[in-house]
Amino acid sequence: MQSAKYYVTTPIYYVNDRPHIGHAYTTVLADVLARYHRLLGVPTWFLTGTDEHGQKVQRAAEKAGIAPQEHVDTQVAAFQELWKKLEITHDDFIRTTEPRHTQVVQQWLQTLYDAGEIYRDEYNGWYCVPDERFFAEEELIDGKCPECGRDVEQITEANYFFRMSRYQEWLVRHIEENPGFIQPDFRRNETLGFLRKPLKDLCISRPKSRLAWGIEMPFDPDFVTYVWFDALVNYVSAIGHLSDDETFAKWWPVSCHLIGKDILVTHTVYWPTFLKAMGVPMPECIFAHGWWLSGETKMGKSLGNVVNPMAMIDRCGVDAFRYFLLAAMSPGQDASFTEEAFVMRYNSDLANDLGNLVSRVLNLMVKNCDGAVPALQGNPLDGDEERELWALAQAAADGLEPALRAMTLDKEIAEVIAVVRAANRYMERRKPWLQAKEEDKEPLHITLYTVAEVLRVVAGLLHPVMPERMTALRASLGLPPDPPHVPDLKQFGLLEAGTPVIKPDALFPRIVIEESPVEEAVSKPTPPPPKPEVPSAEPVVGVIDYEDFSKVKLRTAKIMAAERVPKTSKLLKLEVMMGSERRQIVAGIAMHYEPEKLIGRTVVVVANLKPVTLRGIESQGMLLAATKGETMRLITVDGELSSGAEVK
Ligand code: MSP
Repeated sequence: MQSAKYYVTTPIYYVNDRPHIGHAYTTVLADVLARYHRLLGVPTWFLTGTDEHGQKVQRAAEKAGIAPQEHVDTQVAAFQELWKKLEITHDDFIRTTEPRHTQVVQQWLQTLYDAGEIYRDEYNGWYCVPDERFFAEEELIDGKCPECGRDVEQITEANYFFRMSRYQEWLVRHIEENPGFIQPDFRRNETLGFLRKPLKDLCISRPKSRLAWGIEMPFDPDFVTYVWFDALVNYVSAIGHLSDDETFAKWWPVSCHLIGKDILVTHTVYWPTFLKAMGVPMPECIFAHGWWLSGETKMGKSLGNVVNPMAMIDRCGVDAFRYFLLAAMSPGQDASFTEEAFVMRYNSDLANDLGNLVSRVLNLMVKNCDGAVPALQGNPLDGDEERELWALAQAAADGLEPALRAMTLDKEIAEVIAVVRAANRYMERRKPWLQAKEEDKEPLHITLYTVAEVLRVVAGLLHPVMPERMTALRASLGLPPDPPHVPDLKQFGLLEAGTPVIKPDALFPRIVIEESPVEEAVSKPTPPPPKPEVPSAEPVVGVIDYEDFSKVKLRTAKIMAAERVPKTSKLLKLEVMMGSERRQIVAGIAMHYEPEKLIGRTVVVVANLKPVTLRGIESQGMLLAATKGETMRLITVDGELSSGAEVK
């Protein structure tokens, strides 16, 4: 591969929230990437931290009757404690209330102000007092607040603006010329889509009369900085920007900003324009991962279905949790967390495949080889089966660096588990428990040595994902506790004959599903009371005849484009083709479907419905969907059929 250094960051988390599975995922992913790069011998810096200013913090502190600083000092502990439990190996933890950060933010503001990149202007907008938020005229719904539906007041307020609009053309060119800059590709297209509309200047101040808990504007003490301007600068302030040129030059530009898909615009539009205005080079890559859903549904405090990482770790062990996070999500896509999926994957990959292989091989070595790595007369790789198995392990080892570049760690993990399965099949064929009964011990020794070598590679490749359990596995094979070296994983025969091995306690004890230990980690929404059923003997109401039904024109339509309607959690705006006719439809399916996953699907549309305007967008039809409880499924077509077909 290899670049000279690797600098990876997570978003800095809002300190007001309790850490949940989403925070845990990004941080574990960053940790695994950092650990792999360290194994590859690449100098690595891994930064995480907390975002500590803003309205919510100010309000929570007021409610608790304490100073905001005291509040954040207490809150930050939950994140730091979780990272410790999750075996996170960050090199630095930045808090936006630290002077090393606030000073850089103020220096940036002053520099940009002096350069004319920041100007003062009147801001005219509609203000929702309870939400303490401004909205533009076009954002209002029927003249009311689009968030809470209450009355809004027109307010004119002075504020400071960053000349973001000037960078629009440059940014589009930069994104187009650097395909790796925003990843995955469909997120890059999302940002380019956003940039097709004119980019406005960005309001980067808040009057202290409304919000005091922020970094003061250095040129006007009546204002504090907008929290996103403050937060994004952490990526450079933490590595010595404007204070330690050597350190800054060592790590910047960042190799990978890991973010969730919801903060794409701030990272791929605001942040590059701030950097450009400051003359700082661009990040190499901004990678947006998907969301963890609870089953098919979005997680949220109000939905009561947030997965609590602490409870998961306490009950299943930290490594099993890390493994699941990494193995079950293809970075970029959404993934579903359910206790059933967790238990199934754990039992299948870890307890059955890997755990059983380890305990069989080591038990046989302890029993039949005096508890040590057996000595061999010949070279196991002279045997076809052994060569084949080793080649598979090598393919997994060779796949590591490409997987890191492509961010396909889930596939790499699957490949390693496929090697474990092949080793189990090899054991089944070789039957070492019968070989042990023969006088000539060489075949037995070849079997056990070959599998032990494969396990050495597996333990090395999975070490960044499950550092504690894989260190235990390495110790069982008589290997030292220091992390493995990747070049060693590509060499056969490094286990030394005569090295004592240890029969391990079960590496991954099986989870019995009836008494699933993870249940309490997922708080479940209280199910609504059952609706009384309509007695079947009653006449069915609302019967229509065929003539009525035939008034409804149903057509198949192919989804060509899909995007979320800003400021709603439920609505998607879809572009569909019905034969040669293009239509725009606003559908309330955002809680159930990711926009990018809908593209290309053929759905059923009510084609002759009078258009309606939803959130200012005209909807020219309606999709058919089936719902039960919290689940919603679109009605689609069973097999190939061109769009525009009649549905009867
Ligand atoms: N403070 C800002 C980030 C500033 S970075 C300069 C912020 N904080 S956050 O705590 O709200 O969110 C942090 C990250 O958690 C985001 O990347 C967000 O996408 C991620 N997640 C929140 N819920 C999530 C899931 N359910 N699943 C996966 N990640 C999600 O935004």
